[in-house]
Amino acid sequence: MSCCHRLLNLPASILVTVMAVLVFSFGVAAQAPPPPPAGATAGQVFKNVMVLKDTPADQFIPAMQFMASSLGTTCDTCHMQGAPEKDDKDEKKAARKMMEMMFAINKMNFEGERNVTCYTCHVGSLRPGVTPPVAGDDAAAAHPERDKNAPAADAVFARYIQALGGEAAIRKTNSRVMHGQMEMANGIKTAMDVYAVAPNKRAAVVKFPDGESATVFDGERGFLTSRHGVRPVTGGELEAQQLDGDFYFSLRLKDIFPKTRVFGLEKVNGQPARLVVGVREGKPPVRLYFAEDSGLLVRMVRYVETPLGRNATQVDYADFRELNGAKVPFQWTIARPNGAFTVKLDKVEANAAVDEKRFVMPATPPGMGDGPPKHY
Ligand code: HEC
Ligand code: HEC
Repeated sequence: MSCCHRLLNLPASILVTVMAVLVFSFGVAAQAPPPPPAGATAGQVFKNVMVLKDTPADQFIPAMQFMASSLGTTCDTCHMQGAPEKDDKDEKKAARKMMEMMFAINKMNFEGERNVTCYTCHVGSLRPGVTPPVAGDDAAAAHPERDKNAPAADAVFARYIQALGGEAAIRKTNSRVMHGQMEMANGIKTAMDVYAVAPNKRAAVVKFPDGESATVFDGERGFLTSRHGVRPVTGGELEAQQLDGDFYFSLRLKDIFPKTRVFGLEKVNGQPARLVVGVREGKPPVRLYFAEDSGLLVRMVRYVETPLGRNATQVDYADFRELNGAKVPFQWTIARPNGAFTVKLDKVEANAAVDEKRFVMPATPPGMGDGPPKHY
């Protein structure tokens, strides 16, 4: 009952209405002053009401409760204890603008019918999400929490490199050939090979019953191949391939992200992880989550820009094992709003020779006619 506990701190003049509306109904105030005259407006009864001044006074506190429950907050989020007429909280000022906005949206789009409310957007949180969540997790959509005591991004990155085994150990490997399986949410498993060569080539080959499908980045260009043909990869998909293809990603974090913002600890699969948001000029941000206990990068969320909002792809890394002196993840899960799949490796060879042909885009695409290639 935080709302009512708070009400008891209100100045006497306000208690007049408040008690009539709320406290009186709980039977707390035997000596409750009389309710405001029938027909009184909020503007007449309260001290500093602007947007809702013409609202019937007896609907005013219920309106406050509506805001609090729509945003998942208490009264204190917008009000100083005992002085609700003061405008010293940014949230209160924001709420006034939001009310105006809500009225305007409904007037302009819904003939004044109240189809959009605080709850439509806020759905119980103070800061509404802007990105649809990926399958099974809403971290990609959530608003990160700031943390004044967060370490510098450089320190988080340095700890990550140390956790992997240190720069010298990481540089001992310049190619990886990986064999494993891709598991879909529906339980179907498919054999998969991934070839990665420093500094930035990568080919992931999935062996479907009806033929191979590959996602390839040759260091510059990206393309997808399948029995349906070849499709060049551009825009946000290409940016994602650049990140995945960066063989020494851990060592290059500072170069890739000239600007960073460090946020508080969030939960990744139940474990606390430090969120560092990497900012690149003219490109959507990338969220990097470093496990607080191990220092390892356990999640990366990247976004593809659209005119309406961003689409998120979340990659969770797990099962870190030592290979040629440095740790590499033997498992990763890729989640998008429409589904998720997991890659589990059972064999990884370091510094094995990789045929350059793996990364060459087929010269004559075998026809694009029968539908787009499967994208994974
Ligand atoms: C999201 C922010 C927000 C929350 C949460 C909120 N209020 Fe308010 N409150 C406001 C705003 C904004 C006004 C001024 C409204 C206006 O100008 O039309 C206001 C005004 C008031 C006033 C009038 C003060 C005066 O004399 O001018 C009272 C009383 C009040 N709120 C009580 C409450 C109570 C009780 C709760 C919890 C149930 C609550 N508020 C929750 C934003 C909020
Ligand atoms: C059309 C969608 C929409 C509606 C309707 C809406 N809001 Fe918001 N509100 C937002 C967005 C978006 C933000 C900005 C969040 C951010 O800063 O990232 C926001 C921010 C706020 C904030 C500031 C939060 C903070 O501290 O950063 C408050 C308070 C708030 N809204 C209250 C309300 C109230 C009260 C209503 C109903 C009268 C309302 N909103 C209706 C979308 C909406």
